[in-house]
Amino acid sequence: MNTNRLSTIMETALSNQMNKEIHASHIFLSYGIWADDKGYQGIANFLYRHSQEERNHSIKFMEYILNRGGKPKVEAIPAPPNDPDSLTACFDGVFKHEVDNTTAIYKIVDLSLEEKDWATWNFMQWFVQEQIEEETLAQNLIDKLKIAGGDRATDESLFTLDKTLSETPNEVPLAQEATGYNP
Ligand code: FEO
Repeated sequence: MNTNRLSTIMETALSNQMNKEIHASHIFLSYGIWADDKGYQGIANFLYRHSQEERNHSIKFMEYILNRGGKPKVEAIPAPPNDPDSLTACFDGVFKHEVDNTTAIYKIVDLSLEEKDWATWNFMQWFVQEQIEEETLAQNLIDKLKIAGGDRATDESLFTLDKTLSETPNEVPLAQEATGYNP
């Protein structure tokens, strides 16, 4: 008996998104290594933490597909982009990546509406909310750097910015513990 409650198109779309979230995790890991190497340990802490969150998003997609009777497929993950050449480029990259990801999330929501797949529509609302938060976070990074002076920021203001981001909490909840009600 076929117990898969996802259409083939939906199963593929969700599986692709699982891979996209791993790619995002690698992008932020790579940016974090760049920042760490430059001596911005606070910014690196923020990016490493964000990388882990993206991996958790990926696991959330994996679990959902399996729970609906489908089978996700891990694909080859493209290499992350080259190192940014400045902090502005780094933060702009984070923002751009989040906006791109929101577009991908919305496409799955559109598909769930088309298919009247309300379980997936409901599942995706967590990600719609999460993207609002992540875009805001990325926008705040750009704003903070602008206030610090952008690429012409003094060492002192960059030190303060880096210190603020080093206080980003390290404990990232595991995907398995996150639910629609308690994300
Ligand atoms: Fe998984 Fe930043 O979205």
